[in-house]
Amino acid sequence: MQYGSFDDAHREYVISRPDTPLPWINYLGNESYFGLISNTGGGYSFYRDARLRRITRYRYNNVPFDYGGRYIYLRDDDSGEVWTPTWQPIRKELENYTCRHGMGYTTIKSRYNQIEAEVRFFVPIEADLEVWQLKVTNHRQDPTKISAFSCVEFCLWDAWDDVTNFQRNFNIGEVEIDEEVIYHKTEYRERRNHFAYFACSDPLAGYDTQRETFLGPYRGWDDPQVVVEGKSLNSEAHGWAPIGSHHVSLMLNPGESHQVIYVLGYHENPADQKFEDAACQRVNKRTVKPVIKKYLDPDQVEIAFRELGEFWDSLLNIIQVKTPDVNLDRMVNIWNAYQCMTTFNLSRSASFYESGVGRGLGFRDSAQDLLGFVHMIPTRARQRILDLAATQMESGGAYHQYQPLTKRGNNAVGGNFNDDPLWLVIAVAAYIKETGDWSILDEPLNYDNVPGSEKPLYDHLQRSLMYTLARIGPHGLPLIGRADWNDCLNLNTFSSEPGESFQTTTNKDGKVAESVFIAGLFILAAREMLEICRRTNHLREVDNYISEVKKMKEAVNRSGWDGEWFLRAYDDYGSKVGSKECQEGRIYIEPQGMCIMAGIGVDDDRAGRSLASVRTHLATPHGILLHQPAYTRYYLQLGEISSYPPGYKENASVFCHTNPWIIIAETILGHGDQAYDYYALLNPSAREKIGEIHRCEPYVFAQTVAGRDAATFGEAKNSWLTGTAAWTFVAATQYILGIRPTWEGLQVVPVIPQGWEGFTAQRQFRGCMYFITVERKGTGNSITLFLDGNPVEGNIIPLPKEGQKQVNVKIELL
Ligand code: BGC
Ligand code: NOJ
Repeated sequence: MQYGSFDDAHREYVISRPDTPLPWINYLGNESYFGLISNTGGGYSFYRDARLRRITRYRYNNVPFDYGGRYIYLRDDDSGEVWTPTWQPIRKELENYTCRHGMGYTTIKSRYNQIEAEVRFFVPIEADLEVWQLKVTNHRQDPTKISAFSCVEFCLWDAWDDVTNFQRNFNIGEVEIDEEVIYHKTEYRERRNHFAYFACSDPLAGYDTQRETFLGPYRGWDDPQVVVEGKSLNSEAHGWAPIGSHHVSLMLNPGESHQVIYVLGYHENPADQKFEDAACQRVNKRTVKPVIKKYLDPDQVEIAFRELGEFWDSLLNIIQVKTPDVNLDRMVNIWNAYQCMTTFNLSRSASFYESGVGRGLGFRDSAQDLLGFVHMIPTRARQRILDLAATQMESGGAYHQYQPLTKRGNNAVGGNFNDDPLWLVIAVAAYIKETGDWSILDEPLNYDNVPGSEKPLYDHLQRSLMYTLARIGPHGLPLIGRADWNDCLNLNTFSSEPGESFQTTTNKDGKVAESVFIAGLFILAAREMLEICRRTNHLREVDNYISEVKKMKEAVNRSGWDGEWFLRAYDDYGSKVGSKECQEGRIYIEPQGMCIMAGIGVDDDRAGRSLASVRTHLATPHGILLHQPAYTRYYLQLGEISSYPPGYKENASVFCHTNPWIIIAETILGHGDQAYDYYALLNPSAREKIGEIHRCEPYVFAQTVAGRDAATFGEAKNSWLTGTAAWTFVAATQYILGIRPTWEGLQVVPVIPQGWEGFTAQRQFRGCMYFITVERKGTGNSITLFLDGNPVEGNIIPLPKEGQKQVNVKIELL
């Protein structure tokens, strides 16, 4: 069953009924001001940090789902009928409801009793605010008087404190009302120099800023007294719950439309210019007023909206493909790239499943998110690398996350994940291959943000690898620490306290539990590093990494191969995890993908056998499972992984992030059909038609799809913020389509299905646009390359010459 459809020409997903199985959301904003918005107007906004600068309030886990949002109530002032054109919160049945989620904007449009209302929400490029454009049209034969009431509920900034510290918070709310603008200035008198504002383009019939006055005692968002009675009460919030609500009264002739613009924004004043004058405590509005004025002007708003479209044109044009598969095309060309931007921006901090108060930017998450983003805005990727590296510790170890506002590492969500530092090397290699900017290696960066500890990024990378080498276990494999990529395989935690966090509780400094996954990742990273060393003339180090790679490979060959697949780990007792010797959790996906990506078993038949085992034991019609059999009981020595019911999350769901590793591994072995089949199973667009099973948005990847052992096999969960976005983008573009940046230039080595006759693509790379045509002439994967009509040796297109703006590339697959 479908709840909408793709409009590829407009790069939109069009939802045709409001009661989707879950809120289907979109993101607004690109750099500093962000919003989440659902197809029924739910969601919230924040400035940079979803915890520390929350602008509007949202109630997670509320009933009905998805309360707190950007509300506009309409009232027919003749009949007294009230409704919300976004469906929520009043939920009256609407005629012609559509929600269009686009690139950085959402438009919700509906009709009720012949009154049409359309609201477009977006965040202009480089502005710290969001614009809502409400257009109301009277399709009746008679003039109609309509009242529009806007409403947002302000969060008292720190979203965690906001939901816990009521004895204080019910006393501190403060607002100012100045003509059509409501200022939310809680704590501005003291240590904050930022405030929020909510402005309206039209003269007001009234306003409200106190929630309880607006709603009326014991009433909810679906029945606000002020709206029902049609009259704002001009309330001023003192403590309790500040809101912003404007009442605009419209008189519309038959056929007439009217637009009202609302601007919700964030603003900072310099500490010494906070107030109008020293004697008063009123907000100094000198610098904010011009901003408000600009975005209440309909012409300026249209310009800003156009600029947003152009911004996305230029980003998406960098890679565009046309293949026989429309689902692949729309993901690569539009939605997957878009999701990569979101994961790059927000890591795992704020979604409808990440509360925004828990996690900042994850070290390994951000490093991987960058892989799907670096081609879009390399300067931002560069900065992210520098920020991450500056939180690294002198030991080479990493904080598991850092706060975006302070850029400081923090251990509040745990530490000692021994894979973390290696991902930095992978990210830097991807950045240099994309840009050719070798200067990044010389950037002096602190350790742990301590001034005076600066060392070039190059040194940080070396320490990342040293960190692994300094932590080797009894089989010569890397010690796992608290966990590796799989946060829930906690081999040193031994948690028996109910409710204790597996991620943060004191961990044993174990010297036994080892990870085959980290061994693979180490080899992958060390191979990148040795190429970096070779190209920067650190020849002794090249030899060193060659020998470390060799040693690690030998360790995997000796102790990391289980006969038909790669072993997952050794636990603290030295027992195997992910082995035929185990009763449950006999085979895991991660080491199969990672070891083959690292080149292990590719020269003999083990990679092939490993992938055949994946197919036999882990592949399902809904994707590839994390492990099998699922754990049916709690294993103290394995930790959180066995805490989940079978089939969910890390306990044998389709943990989507790992599937592209297998897709890549299949392409490495030249299996185009199998690689593509796995990709197609995962592709949310291809799953659109089973919306009642999949339940999440069909335009973005979700973190998990419930596995075979689950009661709800096939049900997706935790959409949007997942490493799946970057890795599927890499798997599809660089491995299936084979368009891959390398140290020497752009390589084109497709491994596509037998049934494809070819495809075309454009790829902008180092300032040059490559127009690529791939034609299948035979059944294999070997290629002949033509540049501007001339045959060229090999499969790498030499770097563009100075000033060269375009190249025609033709590939024949034999
Ligand atoms: C989840 C993991 C997540 C971790 C982060 C666990 O409960 O299952 O997916 O990475 O928390 O804190
Ligand atoms: C989600 C986390 O954000 C990521 O870092 C981790 O690798 C996966 N869960 C698997 O546990």
